[in-house]
Amino acid sequence: MSQGCVRRNPAAPPLLMVLTLTILSLLLFIQPTIGSTPWPHGPHHHVINGTTDLNFGSSKKYEGSSEFVHLRYHMGPVLTSNITVHPIWYGTWQKSQKKIIRGFLNSISAVDSKHPSVSGWWKTVQLYTDQTGANISRTLHVGEEKNDRFYSHGKSLTRLSIQSVIKSAVTARTHPLPINPKSGLYLLLTSDDVHVQDFCGQVCGFHYFTFPSIVGYTLPYAWVGNSAKLCPGVCAYPFAVPAYIPNLKPVKSPNGDVGVDGMISVIAHEIAELATNPLVNAWYAGPDPCFPTEIADLCEGIYGTGGGGSYTGQMLKARDGATYNMNGIRRRFLVQWVWNPIVSYCSGPNALDQ
Ligand SMILES: *[C@@H]1O[C@H](CO)[C@@H](O)[C@H](O)[C@H]1NC(C)=O
Ligand SMILES: *[C@@H]1O[C@H](CO)[C@@H](O)[C@H](O)[C@H]1NC(C)=O
Ligand SMILES: *[C@@H]1O[C@H](CO)[C@@H](O)[C@H](O)[C@H]1NC(C)=O
Repeated sequence: MSQGCVRRNPAAPPLLMVLTLTILSLLLFIQPTIGSTPWPHGPHHHVINGTTDLNFGSSKKYEGSSEFVHLRYHMGPVLTSNITVHPIWYGTWQKSQKKIIRGFLNSISAVDSKHPSVSGWWKTVQLYTDQTGANISRTLHVGEEKNDRFYSHGKSLTRLSIQSVIKSAVTARTHPLPINPKSGLYLLLTSDDVHVQDFCGQVCGFHYFTFPSIVGYTLPYAWVGNSAKLCPGVCAYPFAVPAYIPNLKPVKSPNGDVGVDGMISVIAHEIAELATNPLVNAWYAGPDPCFPTEIADLCEGIYGTGGGGSYTGQMLKARDGATYNMNGIRRRFLVQWVWNPIVSYCSGPNALDQ
């Protein structure tokens, strides 16, 4: 999601839908399970033009597959040359946590991972092109990183102070991050004790670009927070579930860290959108550039075939019981799908019928 103006949309299902689901399942004496049990005839939640339409019984092939989605190219640049991601680790991060996140980022271009793979997921992002017909880059790697261990701008950040954190990272006296407006992405990751404006209530992450008046350059960046302490049921769903849903059990996360495993899908979401809409003038749907609906927004909460509404779609289960949907370099991850512009629905490498 980009956040030029104000953004909404937590990863967990909205309260109204969850209540409906719960009531329905009580009526049917079924315990709602999220994740491993498909429920193709459950209530489907369709949002068109901001209005809600609950439609029972009919199972759509893919939620979000709709003639109302008009994803358009607005002539701006996209990331067609080798992408370098610069993580900024804000606050307190364990080595093991950094390894999971780096492992995911490096998996994007690792074409020899087992199917279904993270690089297979990125193939859908590569389908997007610019004015010259050049595709999104196949190659993404992790570049120089910056640690901001001592919370340079405090433990409570606003949208604007996030830009100041990035400014500190690119202007630091020692080991500043390189300035790379053409193919660099600046990924600000905040530890689980950092509050960020709108975190948990409305957003789990967002992307935008820095203002020359604050940072000195226009740099595409994203912020993603570790929700483990503040709101795992919202931002690390389905590895944690919201307290307001009775009888709903979380699924086991693939890398043993609920907060970080939950961040992976949000990081993937933001990077897919940064690649296709880095300056918020390229690929998005909707009439208002202040509230663009981008390629990952369209598929939020969908991780497998049949996904949509409150159902995540069919995922995979590892031998240790962990739930995931794609393989990376020696690790598994659960990552939401993205919009496929060729077929006009959400797709991912673990699709059963493609
Ligand atoms: C969506 O909103 C636009 C503008 O408000 C309106 O013209 C259009 O008919 C709406 N479409 C649907 C499906 O409600
Ligand atoms: C882009 O990445 C590929 C694959 O790692 C590499 O072979 C190529 O030299 C890189 N190109 C540039 C311009 O750095
Ligand atoms: C580039 O994009 C076009 C148009 O979506 C697509 O047909 C083609 O397969 C893409 N190429 C790669 C390498 O993804």
